[in-house]
Amino acid sequence: MAAGESIDHRGFTLWLTGLSGAGKSTLSSALAQALRADGRLVEVLDGDEVRTNLSRGLGFSKEDRDINVERIGFVARLLARNGVIAMTAAISPYRDVRANVRKKHADEGVPFIEVFANASIEALTRRDVKGLYKQALAGDIANFSGVTDPYEAPESPEIEVHTDAETVDCSVERILKYLANRGYIKSN
Ligand code: ADX
Repeated sequence: MAAGESIDHRGFTLWLTGLSGAGKSTLSSALAQALRADGRLVEVLDGDEVRTNLSRGLGFSKEDRDINVERIGFVARLLARNGVIAMTAAISPYRDVRANVRKKHADEGVPFIEVFANASIEALTRRDVKGLYKQALAGDIANFSGVTDPYEAPESPEIEVHTDAETVDCSVERILKYLANRGYIKSN
């Protein structure tokens, strides 16, 4: 970036990580709407959507999840380095692969901002929008993240939102404020 050049039109990757049902998709749609209204180019790589096309056929073993997350990271990086705000909304449960994706961004000087959508298993099980926690607890879904499969929470995410305790609007505001404070987007 040239000296004095503003960074508030540069692309970046906003990487949402968290358990199924923690609100990653909801947050990313709300953020995308706000950022587009501000004239930014935004693409959302949503876990469920990616699994029906880019990653069709992959399962939920560590190996398959790693491939899925690496693919998402790859596409996000291509978008972000071309001025797009790339938002990802996949569980991305493993720290090593998230670190790998972060490193590839850093190697190219593309900003990578990790957002931890944190909600307790108790809250997610109570809410159980897709009915998957009930099935996982009954043993009907193998390797379910947070129940019978690991979820490695980020140790130092750029942003953490508590989606079981704060409203969507509140989380969105906090994320936008973080981005504006650091010059990734214009402050309104
Ligand atoms: S990731 O681990 O590879 O990042 P991803 O976000 O793409 O996961 O997919 C998670 C979605 O797949 C969940 O929101 C849920 O709807 C569905 N799903 C089906 N089986 C599982 C499972 N065993 N563990 C987690 N999610 C599952």
